[in-house]
Amino acid sequence: MTALNIVAVVGNPGARSRTKVLADAIVSTLSAALEQHHPLRLQVLEIADLASHIGTALTPQQLDAEGAAAVRAIETADLIVAVTPVYKGSYSGLFKHLFDLVDQEALVGRPVLLAANGGSHRHALVVDHQLRPLFAFFRALAVPSAIYAAEADYAGYTITPGPLQDRIDEAVAQAVPLVVARHASRDLRLVA
Ligand SMILES: Cc1cc2nc3c(=O)[nH]c(=O)nc-3n(C[C@H](O)[C@H](O)[C@H](O)COP(=O)(O)O)c2cc1C
Repeated sequence: MTALNIVAVVGNPGARSRTKVLADAIVSTLSAALEQHHPLRLQVLEIADLASHIGTALTPQQLDAEGAAAVRAIETADLIVAVTPVYKGSYSGLFKHLFDLVDQEALVGRPVLLAANGGSHRHALVVDHQLRPLFAFFRALAVPSAIYAAEADYAGYTITPGPLQDRIDEAVAQAVPLVVARHASRDLRLVA
């Protein structure tokens, strides 16, 4: 059985990040649900690390090796975990820029778990009004429940036990059958 390939994209351009904490919590919940049944390959792509490799590339051909590897990882993932901070009511600019470099046919039918981290809960619908349409463009398979977190869900850089973990558990429970089905289809060569 080939490894199930999970790629998390963390859209925060800064180093210390609650968006990264959220992505790590999602990935660790996914791992706990999947690793007993499937070999896993986990990759976390941080915009904070990739900015200098993607920021000046206007086309995929202009990417350096590291930028091209990141785009390729997204294009070949069995599950993408897309996590962005909320900037001006939407995803961060560099998060969008990375996906602008992804082939528009590469994510068709691909499971994507959506998550965003904002300052307050006022912008919670960013996951449905901004992130979901981006992945609808790609004809990806967005998990029905998206995850939104805000300052109130953390004590410092630690998730406070309670509703946020419940939302993560719900979205992961929906993502698992999608990613297992996608992986089985790939092993049977029904999808690329
Ligand atoms: C340029 C900028 C714009 C922001 N716009 C919003 C916004 O529209 N709505 C919101 O809830 N938070 C907004 N915030 C707050 C960030 O979403 C919040 O600080 C971030 O998610 C915290 O995650 P981090 O620790 O990964 O930076 C903004 C922050 C910055 C720096």
